[in-house]
Amino acid sequence: MDYSYNNLNNIYQHVLKLGMLSPPEDVIACWLLFDTLPEINKFLELGSYIGGGLAIFNEALHETGHVNVEFTGVDHLDFIGAKTTGQGATWYSDHFNRCLSQNEIESLTKLSGTLGMSTWIQDRCERLTNKKLQLSCVRTEDEVTSANFDIIHHDYGDGVEDNLATIRKSLLKLSSNGVYIVDDWCTGAPFRTWATVLAQQEGLLYPIMWGKNKVFFAKSQDVAQDIVKKICANSKYNSKLFKPMPGSNYFGPGYMTIRMHWQAIQWA
Ligand SMILES: C[S@@+](CC[C@H](N)C(=O)[O-])C[C@H]1O[C@@H](n2cnc3c(N)ncnc32)[C@H](O)[C@@H]1O
Repeated sequence: MDYSYNNLNNIYQHVLKLGMLSPPEDVIACWLLFDTLPEINKFLELGSYIGGGLAIFNEALHETGHVNVEFTGVDHLDFIGAKTTGQGATWYSDHFNRCLSQNEIESLTKLSGTLGMSTWIQDRCERLTNKKLQLSCVRTEDEVTSANFDIIHHDYGDGVEDNLATIRKSLLKLSSNGVYIVDDWCTGAPFRTWATVLAQQEGLLYPIMWGKNKVFFAKSQDVAQDIVKKICANSKYNSKLFKPMPGSNYFGPGYMTIRMHWQAIQWA
């Protein structure tokens, strides 16, 4: 699968089929980041859901030379019992009907634990992408015992305080050179966005790149600026589609961040 901006429409179809809840432009921004980072061995996804995101990340990582990544997925799995509790049941049924086969829906409703969920996601990912996925799932972020993640993708949380707590806790598990990706920024989770602003003011997050719904941060200024320079120097960096963000010196003299020009990706 070509994850470059040359293949936006196919990436979009692939994302829909896999059931990832992200626009394809953000997947392209991730692909550019993965291609830029020299080593990615460990990836934590906060909100692994049915694994659509994991499958896409795993495939984009393979495409960029990171073939042995260990994934940890956190999800309380309430969506499995949503039909009985009624919580979000219609939303989940509609989404399952869009991307899962009847067999997949049936097997999903029978899962009870995180081991079953890991196996279900791994099987589906390998079947649909033909790429091996190494995954272990847990229900809460407090159960993540491993550390030194190279990438953390933060994809749950509604309020300011819960998101700030997740950011503070999870940053302890991010390697010093790692990248912290926050999803639903600008759209979908306004208070998660607010939490990242407060975290930046606390000196916890330093912006690297602004995607469509995903924003990419490091946990130190030096690392953020080093990654920005490396992304810009990457031969796959297309300066019509990714541009320096005016006003970035708000974060310090000479500070630079990258804006993804997602409208231009759609026209390209
Ligand atoms: C938006 S979905 C994740 C989508 C997925 N990352 C993707 O890209 O396709 C959020 C998931 O987080 C889970 N979730 C929400 N709050 C949680 C919490 N506090 N702890 C663990 N899981 C949670 C939900 O069950 C849901 O599956």
